[in-house]
Parts: sequence; structure tokens; C-alpha cells
Amino acid sequence: MDQNELKALVGKEAVKYVEDGMIVGLGTGSTVRFMVDALGERVKNEGLKIVGVTTSRRTTKQATELGITIKDIDEVDHVDLTIDGADEVSNDFQGIKGGGGALLWEKVVNDASTKNIWIVDESKLVDKLGDFGVPVEVIPFGAAHVFRKFEKKGYQPQWRMDGDNRYLTDEKNYIIDLKMGKIDAPKTLAEDLIHTVGVVEHGLFLDRVNEVIVGRQDGPEVLHA
Ligand code: A5P
Repeated sequence: MDQNELKALVGKEAVKYVEDGMIVGLGTGSTVRFMVDALGERVKNEGLKIVGVTTSRRTTKQATELGITIKDIDEVDHVDLTIDGADEVSNDFQGIKGGGGALLWEKVVNDASTKNIWIVDESKLVDKLGDFGVPVEVIPFGAAHVFRKFEKKGYQPQWRMDGDNRYLTDEKNYIIDLKMGKIDAPKTLAEDLIHTVGVVEHGLFLDRVNEVIVGRQDGPEVLHA
């Protein structure tokens, strides 16, 4: 199986966890795309009745086109289950997310969810987080100062770009990717980032997942955190 087939495999597997009546958080990314397609199939073929809460405008568009009912996060009082992708998952179930730029809404929906499942192909599993980089969402005002602060700390920041322009998130913020390699103390870094003025959120998702469904050549494997 190639990488896309593994992503499709975990996408299909994950929607088996969705039950009638659930409020379901829908993540963002290329793996989630397959999952949302599979969920759309269940809604269409089985008449599955769910409400979706999305983590990006992209996912809202896809889900709506598939006939999945979508509500705003503030129209629901909780989310039963969120299924999202990840960029890296360490063997102690910590994660990096935000490769697709949706980390802020993803973290808000993750936080509101009773259960969180991540779906990844096996290439995302790592011993130690960091090689992917850590996406950090910052407000545009004063962002260059935040960038310099990161440089001085040795975090090796890079602006996320969209062609010649800085990438803009759904909240119209910038993303600074920290390319510092393997991280010895993710919790310490997360604390430092969230307390940096101008930072809205970061892509370290620590102690935020219940199950990880891994796409392996011989089938999906479910890991329990
Ligand atoms: C979106 O911002 C991300 O957090 C994605 O969930 C993550 O980047 C995984 O995306 P892929 O499934 O495309 O690798």
C-alpha cells in the first residue's frame, strides 16, 4: 500500500467509532479528507444521524458538500468524539499538529472533546518529537518581534509562506515554524511558547489523545494512550 492507501485505510477505520446521535469533531488534513469522505458515505448509505464540528474552513466545505450537518463549535455544549490527523506522534502519545495550518481550531475542538482519536500512516510515528518542526500561530501585530525572540532562543524559526506572502490561518494569523530538531522537553517548550506574548497557540498537542489508529501494511493498528 502506498501512503495514500494507508491514509484511506485509517480514515475508513476511524468512522467505525462514530455512532448515531454523536457530535463529531472533524479534523483537517489529507488523512482526515479520506475520513470525511468515509463518514459522508455512512451518512448517505446508512442514514447515520450526526452533527459535525469542523476545525477548518476546508473541512467545513468538504463535509457540507457530502451532506454532513455542520454546527459551529459554540452551537454545541460538547463534542463526543474528534477524529483528526497528526504530523508526528511519539511513543508516549504526544503529538505535533499544524502542518496544514489548522492547529488553533484543532486544539479548541480537541479540548472540547470527550474522546480524541488521531489517524496516521506509520510514517508519522517517531521516538522523539521535533523533526517535523513545531508550528506556532502568532497574531500579525508585532510578529517580527516574536520571530526575533525565537531566533535568540535558538528555536530556528521560519515564516510559513503561501507563495510570496505569509501564510494566513483561518483566524488571519501567521504561522512561525520552529525547526529546532528533536525536542528533549516538549512540556517545557510548550509552556514557554504559550507564555510568549503574541503567540495564540502552538502545535504541541501534549496529553491530548486517547487512541491512535496507525495505517500499517498489514492493516490498521489501534494504539491506546
Ligand atoms: C492540520 O493543521 C494538521 O494538524 C493535520 O492534522 C496534520 O498536519 C496531518 O495532516 P496530514 O494528514 O495531511 O498529514
